[in-house]
Amino acid sequence: MTDAAGSDLRILLDSRGIESTVERVAADVSADHNDGVVLVGVLRGSVPFLADLARAMSIRVRIDFLSITPYSPGTGRVRLLKDLDIDVTGRDVVMVEDIVDTGLTSEFLSAQLNRRNPRRLSVCTFVDRPVRRAAPVRPDYVGIGIPEEFVIGYGLDYEGRYRNLPMLAAANPAVLKENPDAHIAALYRF
Ligand code: IMP
Repeated sequence: MTDAAGSDLRILLDSRGIESTVERVAADVSADHNDGVVLVGVLRGSVPFLADLARAMSIRVRIDFLSITPYSPGTGRVRLLKDLDIDVTGRDVVMVEDIVDTGLTSEFLSAQLNRRNPRRLSVCTFVDRPVRRAAPVRPDYVGIGIPEEFVIGYGLDYEGRYRNLPMLAAANPAVLKENPDAHIAALYRF
């Protein structure tokens, strides 16, 4: 697809593709957790996925969120901005992410969650991009695996934009760097 800026946006999953992907993941998570789960969303990119996932699940679900500061280049240090409100001791917890890229977010938050002594902790991500993995993280539930491409939509942003794009699309980061709004027209087309 070519948008108003003349820059290519490649659709990886349209809204139907997202729906069937979410249904598959929800069925897998439900089948593995008869006693129900606490879904812990990593703010903010996981919000659309978590909302759809929770509604597609056929088990008892509670919802909570975590948020961390972005990695500061060089230091690799992060800080919790928002902690859990629910006590997850002895519960099955599924951490829900938008994308697992380097895996550093997953690794840090898994360690935080494990300190709360859940009965079981799993990682569920809508997108898995293993090519840049820096931490030994293997998500338990994956919506779609992708090669080395930058993606936007369905919660994934570029500088805060495009989270509400109702599809997952591969974008050219050089185009977005030049003009972060380059694909805004796509928002009005779907
Ligand atoms: P990590 O590298 O696995 O720790 O991922 C950190 C965060 O970077 C993710 O939760 C996303 O918010 C963001 N991120 C990584 N890759 C992309 C992408 O292709 N598009 C949008 N955000 C991304």
